[in-house]
Amino acid sequence: MFKEDTLSGQTILITGGGSGLGLSMAKGFARCGANIAICGRTEKKLEKAVKEIEKEGEGIVARYYQCDVRDYDGVTTMFEQIIDNFGAITGLVNNAAGNFLSASEDLSPGGFKAVVDIVLHGSFNCTHVFGNYLIDNEKEGNILNMVTTYAEGTGCAFVLPSACSKAGVLAMTRSLAFEWATYGIRLNAIAPGPFPTEGAWSRLVPKKVLEKNFKNKIPAKRYGEHEELANLAIFLMSDLAPYITGECVVIDGGERLQAGQFNFVDGLMSRSKLKKLFKAMKP
Ligand code: HXC
Repeated sequence: MFKEDTLSGQTILITGGGSGLGLSMAKGFARCGANIAICGRTEKKLEKAVKEIEKEGEGIVARYYQCDVRDYDGVTTMFEQIIDNFGAITGLVNNAAGNFLSASEDLSPGGFKAVVDIVLHGSFNCTHVFGNYLIDNEKEGNILNMVTTYAEGTGCAFVLPSACSKAGVLAMTRSLAFEWATYGIRLNAIAPGPFPTEGAWSRLVPKKVLEKNFKNKIPAKRYGEHEELANLAIFLMSDLAPYITGECVVIDGGERLQAGQFNFVDGLMSRSKLKKLFKAMKP
């Protein structure tokens, strides 16, 4: 879909890039000629991921950094190392996340804090260090924040820490898109619907009954493909989108549209029976 040089000359850090959607985006960026930095907490996972990423892009360099995004000093050191290793950094994808299902009254303060620390504070830490680097060095750059479809408008039951954190990340995206436009820094967000990953599925849809209902409520009646999400991320991180900033692009097969007042009718019977019923109702 994209040319092999769509992202050439770029070095992009993907937090939580050792697995899941982060790894898929890293591979997509590599295929388009970007050098890749990934970070995460588990060295073994990162080591394996870097090998996979390097295979995807001809002549690109991929490196990993063991870093917990919750630790501001650790994040600062990581950026110093990336700049030292690659000479510069042009893009950041705040992808590292934490989430689990729980009735909100049963949450412990520690459980709430763990998710907020990773998602909201982690995204702030990386964005703040990267933004200062760009501003101090008079460089332009790109930040992409991974949020969710429930970050805006609805919130979400049973994932309260995630809903609160992702709403904060979306507010940060729009606030800084305005504030930092003067420096040539773009910030956008992607709100993915259901894209199966080991991390999310093992925590959020581990039971068959959840899985079946999860898929059924997507109008497209299928989950997203990782490559579909990677393509959107490539576009937003590239020079193909220089005038897009402060935007949140939803990619969810229509899942968020369930609130339409008569949408429930679709699940009552087959479409052909439904059409017959509508005709019979005609005065
Ligand atoms: C209730 C839980 C819990 C659970 C952890 N806790 N899991 N409480 N139900 N299932 C509580 C612990 O008891 C502890 O509380 C506190 O959270 C911190 O837990 P730790 O295990 O010590 O913390 P840590 O190792 O840092 O783990 C962070 C985590 C974990 C967020 C809790 O799930 C994690 O590392 N996740 C990263 C990967 C991930 O979640 N990926 C999915 C993201 S998907 P106390 O009180 O003892 O301190 C996503 C997209 C959503 O976000 C959209 C999908 C469709």
